[in-house]
Amino acid sequence: MRTDTATGADRKIRLADYRPPAWMIEQVRLDFDLAPRATRVRARIAFRRNSQAEGARPDLRLDGRRLTFVGASIDGAPLDQQALSFDAEGLTVPAAALPGDSFTWECETEIDPETNTELEGLYLSRNMFCTQCEAEGFRKITYYPDRPDVMAPFTVRIEAAAADYPVLLSNGNPGATGGLPGGRHFAEWHDPHPKPAYLFALVAGELVAHEDRFTTASGREVELRVWVRPGDEDKCAYAMDALKRSMRWDETAYGREYDLDVFQIVAVDDFNMGAMENKGLNIFNSKYVLASPETATDADYERIESIVAHEYFHNWTGNRITCRDWFQLCLKEGLTVFRDQCFTGDERSEPVKRIDDVKLLRARQFREDQGPLAHPVRPEEYIEINNFYTATVYEKGAEVIRMLRTLVGEDGYRKALDLYFERHDGEACTIEQFRQCFEDATGRDLSDFARWWSQAGTPRLSMSEDWDGGTYTLTLRQQTPPTPGQDSKAPLVIPVATGLIGPDGAELVPTRVLELREAEQAFRFEGLPARPVASVLRGFSAPVTLERQLDDATRAFLLAHDIDPFNRWQAGRDYAVAIALRLIAGGTIPNAWAEALGRLLADDSLDPAFRALALELPGEDEMAGEVVTRGGLADPDAIHEALRAMRAHLGGALGEALATLRARMAVTGPYSPDAGAAGRRALANRCLALMLAADTPEAHRAAEAQFDAADNMTDRIAALAVLVHADAPGATPRLDAFLKAWEHDPLVLDKWLTVQATAPLKDAAARVEALTGHSAFEWKNPNRFRALIGSFAVGNAVGFHAADGAGYRLVADWLLRLDPVNPQTTARVAGCFETWRRYEPGRQALMRAELERIAAAPALSRNTREIVERILG
Ligand code: ARG
Ligand code: ZN
Repeated sequence: MRTDTATGADRKIRLADYRPPAWMIEQVRLDFDLAPRATRVRARIAFRRNSQAEGARPDLRLDGRRLTFVGASIDGAPLDQQALSFDAEGLTVPAAALPGDSFTWECETEIDPETNTELEGLYLSRNMFCTQCEAEGFRKITYYPDRPDVMAPFTVRIEAAAADYPVLLSNGNPGATGGLPGGRHFAEWHDPHPKPAYLFALVAGELVAHEDRFTTASGREVELRVWVRPGDEDKCAYAMDALKRSMRWDETAYGREYDLDVFQIVAVDDFNMGAMENKGLNIFNSKYVLASPETATDADYERIESIVAHEYFHNWTGNRITCRDWFQLCLKEGLTVFRDQCFTGDERSEPVKRIDDVKLLRARQFREDQGPLAHPVRPEEYIEINNFYTATVYEKGAEVIRMLRTLVGEDGYRKALDLYFERHDGEACTIEQFRQCFEDATGRDLSDFARWWSQAGTPRLSMSEDWDGGTYTLTLRQQTPPTPGQDSKAPLVIPVATGLIGPDGAELVPTRVLELREAEQAFRFEGLPARPVASVLRGFSAPVTLERQLDDATRAFLLAHDIDPFNRWQAGRDYAVAIALRLIAGGTIPNAWAEALGRLLADDSLDPAFRALALELPGEDEMAGEVVTRGGLADPDAIHEALRAMRAHLGGALGEALATLRARMAVTGPYSPDAGAAGRRALANRCLALMLAADTPEAHRAAEAQFDAADNMTDRIAALAVLVHADAPGATPRLDAFLKAWEHDPLVLDKWLTVQATAPLKDAAARVEALTGHSAFEWKNPNRFRALIGSFAVGNAVGFHAADGAGYRLVADWLLRLDPVNPQTTARVAGCFETWRRYEPGRQALMRAELERIAAAPALSRNTREIVERILG
């Protein structure tokens, strides 16, 4: 790790160094004169000295990057440029040049949106102006104290050529609009709610609106608009519907109403992340707005619903109450992810949503915790904040909120949140203030619990059991392995939801939350008629790894009888992991496994979506993690072969049953993305994939016929994927047909790229390399880059971990190419190398060599440098 000087661009920012802002802002007025190569920005900012800060009047420090300074004045008096000191990170007005404790700063800058390929600040996406200011993009628009604890009401005036940019949008409520000489026009927007600069947004371009209305619980009429490019109007209905349901849900579940006259969503094609919660003007990656049955899968619909909800929910958890500094990012993200998870659980199936979320948590966050990028939910230092929009901050952050709710109960949780909104509305807060609301509302001491925010790593929970003929004793032990910078770990407060099942499969002791607070603790259950089987960590009540030695018979018993759907699924998962590990060690597959799954499959009292999840095998990356947890080093070939053999075994053993079930799950009538229909399709397609694994001619014919006849993208892409991944003869003509049908829809072509990039074939790297030359691969677009290079790196273990290093080399080459263009997306995809120490020495050496090659690049971005150097350790 570099140790630069305190003012260098790569300096470490530390939570411990936080100081309140010296200057606050009363109001902001921004005037934009839009032009692709030379946009003029005039800012008029009313500053007031922060009464909290003491001592002599401080300098005025403003952040600014890549700005062309045109001129500035204070209280109308022009400033001599010599009076200001400029550096790469901004400018300073010395205290001596400030007239008093309040004054108006005016400044004009010029910026170049067209060459802004970083997609941060104001940039152009297919001739549309748009912004992304979180975390520190606003400083690329004008000089400003670009930190979340400086909040102000904004008034914005946008001026542009009317023909090229007919629609002009910003935050808040609409104001005056009108024509101007020379074919230009303008629009004004006013946002009365004080906000930090990261929530600023501007959009200008040729857009059409899908419109609707919403009446809030107290009767406020809100205009809703989803803005898209002409031609995409018919793909907005689902996002709009999701928005209205989200607005209602926040009223019902949290008593929170919307607070402006308009709420707008804009879809843009070039976007680094999923979406952004700018006040009243959410900007979305078009992938998470546009949907039609022909172009979007069930999974896409569900993602759209949850991201629309997530961004909408930020209006209260993020915007009305924001973060004091970026170390508190989980305050808005963990909480808002938790809220959107609950929303999806309520709208769809709660158990299925929980299983999906835990799968994601393990795949991304446990992986992060196990490697060199491990960090606490609230980090204490960073070099580049954009590198901390991580699975730990988001997903583990949400788990921490979920545990809090489990510990204080639903009522306590609601009281605490009500108090939080009441006490802190309009403020920029810390995790401590949030926690204080829970303590004050519930009377509980949460000081030990707070370690979940500061201690990194996934705790390991082990258990032992004792039975004396009437009393069952469960002893739980916790231990958290060291993570970078944190060698020793203290015990955490872990809510362990546990139920006991009788030998006949009936529930003996209903779920109770055991609070594990010590390194080791025993819990007694008395007066039991027979020795129970414990169902531990129901609903995945804490983000821990449960280490439990079970025999196959007990796993099958839990898989058949646990009334907790999560643990029922988990029993099946543990069973599969155990078999995979046995195979890797040279063992064989017991017949009882397919028999147990066969019984589950045939049980029509179970939700098809749940059965689809139960039929899924662990992924290769997850298996690598399991091998390492047990003290081994992962061999990607052995893991792949074990999982392949297991799929083939199931396909053979359950062949008939799979075909029958698949036919029974067929959905009739017009396509609907609802959870019920989606669940049936998921199960049918899981059956199809296992049938293909047995490689029978019938299976090939079934997949080909499904592709050819499909009236929706879910079934079409599922069929294409199994054919392509099996390198089946039916694959190539269908890849060609797919390409021809969707040539003009980049979001659909992303699926075409991904299906090929994830094919587990020996020559995968060469195939992906060839695809990089295809016209569908516009590599500067983040969606395209992730669809091909990103999905190869994290979704194709065979290709990425090819023994000759071709996969690693290909990815590193492309990271080096993208870095000067778009550091944020490069750094994110570079995370694919974070697991390098998990693998056998040959792979380790190859991965390490690529990491070192990237690190040695002369002008590497701060984003990518930080990630690569931390990964190397
Ligand atoms: N706040 C956004 C969300 O979670 C994420 C935006 C992060 N963007 C970034 N460039 N770091 O909804
Ligand atoms: Zn968010």
